Amino acid sequence: MSEANTPPVLILLGPPGAGKGTQARILEERFGLVQLSTGDLLRGAVAAGTEAGKKAKAVMEAGELVSDEIVLAVLHDRLAEPDVGKGVILDGFPRTTGQAEALDTMLADTGQKINAAISLEVEDEAMVERVSGRYTCANCGEGYHDTFKKPEVDGVCDKCGGTEFKRRADDNAETVRSRLSAYHEQTAPLIDFYKSRGQLKEVDAMGEIDAISDALAGIVEKVQA
Ligand code: AP5
Repeated sequence: MSEANTPPVLILLGPPGAGKGTQARILEERFGLVQLSTGDLLRGAVAAGTEAGKKAKAVMEAGELVSDEIVLAVLHDRLAEPDVGKGVILDGFPRTTGQAEALDTMLADTGQKINAAISLEVEDEAMVERVSGRYTCANCGEGYHDTFKKPEVDGVCDKCGGTEFKRRADDNAETVRSRLSAYHEQTAPLIDFYKSRGQLKEVDAMGEIDAISDALAGIVEKVQA
């Protein structure tokens, strides 16, 4: 358990392609934490055709940030579900100072706090290739890459045996560049925000996926000690 004897709350910060989703899923399996991706929640709202999803769709396709109001509403609903009591890895949230402040307030309401904000340090140029080559299993959501992470058997998901795969509408080179700009303008300032509070951990995320997950596991183990 964490110092405050409450479930751990970890934040993964990083630009598109940094490996937030890849690493969050590994930590979820390894430590029983719950991955909360605001990108996944918003894509779910778009697919379900909710009011929030209708407003978010065009913004996401342009590679810009969805309004704090919509993001906070979808996250608030998800945090009310019982499984989050195991501890959470926030993947892609917060992304603005307003979201970071709102997160503090939400956690204070349940007596929780942020245990670590982990910044995945990468080089922008490599992110366009990472994101453009990404695809996922349509059945279980396991992530793959055309070059860096292929299924063991071509066309068959390692995890569930599914044979259908999909690519995201915003994973093209032009939109990735807009998403990188949004990251640097609106999200990167959070690195100093968490550093000034002594909560920031920086991890080199340009290496192999397994080496990065080992580095992250070391941080989670310290938090849970
Ligand atoms: P979101 O879904 O969060 O996308 P993102 O931040 O752009 O991040 P990605 O999912 O593209 O990258 P990732 O870091 O998870 O990388 P991954 O592990 O997949 O957000 C999408 C949109 O929703 C936003 O643009 C915005 O409009 C909206 N949104 C979401 N949250 C919001 C918020 N809080 N506020 C406002 N708007 C919000 O890896 C990428 C690829 O690289 C994969 O193929 C993977 O296999 C491969 N890979 C991973 N690690 C490595 C490695 N070490 N070496 C080689 N390849 C690797």
